[in-house]
Amino acid sequence: MSFAFDPFAAAVDADPFPYYKILRDEYPCFWSAEAGMWVLSRYADIVVALNDWQTYSSAQGNMMTELPNRAGSTLGTTDPPRHDRLRGLIQHAFLKRNLEAMAEPMRAIAKMVLVAVREREQFDFLEDFSSKFTVRVLFAVLGLPLGDEKQVRDQAVLMVQSDPVTRQKGPAHLAAFAWMTDYAAKVIEERRRQPQDDLISLFSQAEIDGDKLAEREVLLTTTTLIMAGIESLGGFMAMLALNLADHAAARRRLVAEPTLIPDAIEESLRYNTSAQRFRRCLQRDVTLHGQTMRAGDFVCLAYGSGNRDERQFPDPDSYDIDRKPKGHLGFGGGVHGCLGGAIARMACRIAFEEFLDALPTFRRVEAQLPWMPSSTFRSPLRLQLART
Ligand code: HEM
Repeated sequence: MSFAFDPFAAAVDADPFPYYKILRDEYPCFWSAEAGMWVLSRYADIVVALNDWQTYSSAQGNMMTELPNRAGSTLGTTDPPRHDRLRGLIQHAFLKRNLEAMAEPMRAIAKMVLVAVREREQFDFLEDFSSKFTVRVLFAVLGLPLGDEKQVRDQAVLMVQSDPVTRQKGPAHLAAFAWMTDYAAKVIEERRRQPQDDLISLFSQAEIDGDKLAEREVLLTTTTLIMAGIESLGGFMAMLALNLADHAAARRRLVAEPTLIPDAIEESLRYNTSAQRFRRCLQRDVTLHGQTMRAGDFVCLAYGSGNRDERQFPDPDSYDIDRKPKGHLGFGGGVHGCLGGAIARMACRIAFEEFLDALPTFRRVEAQLPWMPSSTFRSPLRLQLART
């Protein structure tokens, strides 16, 4: 029987792991005709690619289905030296903010959002908790004006999705991107006129050796930061909640010992990260496992598969909060490793400290979850939980 791997298929959204296992064992360098790209699924091969940006370039876009005009103008879609310059400027802006000072505001946001959740016997973890929490945290970190949270969140979620039939970005996804770009342009303009103590003000004025960011870079990078920040974090929190609903013993340990929450976060980033697959474009021919990939071909780096590679992580399909998985690919790696990793880890820890305190026992309501149609990210569209 011939094997097919279509990263756009609904069956892959729902459960990519059996496909990944076949890919790793039998087709470690696989041409997916459906996606029109190669797929690398073994941990070691992905790490080599991440550390060789000269060969595996991001400058043609890094999302599996890329949004228009992003390639070449954002952190995730440029190569060094342009990428390093951008990253340096943004990191400079991030460093000026004291992340630790965000801890108490984040906790206050979590407590506030949980007030309504506490009253309910059943609720949607995404709609009622993680989305509301994440969007408010990102608004605080970036310095976005309050009032537009719901719309911004809805558009961010649409931006990372694809049309399940055509597999491409459809009109709604493109309109969301256009909406977000306009929105970011307005905020940047306001902050330029009246700088405040927030990340976008710092970022739009960031300068290294007299080198200001170009207008377009500020705009598209801000747009991407909003999308990446809101969607990746909200989706990841849902995956962690799902893991705790499905692994009651782990949940009970976290309730009894909240200091273990960071370990559960790292294991969830390995076990079923929300950022499953990104792509690169080859700059030269590469022969791997007997297959020759040509310069100009796209290559999918399946982080979610590398994280389940038994060659790297023993007993990879078990969710084990004591594992402390060093070098997992949940945040990618190499020059493009997630810039928001520290914020994401802190926000997630605080959110779950508060969540588990408010709801120490819960179960999931639906055995079959509706999964987001996205070839890059993976999280449920809703996660109904009930108190037990
Ligand atoms: C748990 C939540 C998150 C996950 C799982 C995640 C995952 C990732 C991954 C896998 C990449 C690498 C993409 C590639 O290889 O092309 C990445 C890059 C990036 N992430 Fe995150 N992310 C999260 C949260 C955030 C947050 C909260 C922010 C912003 C505040 C953020 C901003 C970025 C940026 C700017 C990049 C591009 C970095 C570069 O190319 O130099 N992420 N993220």
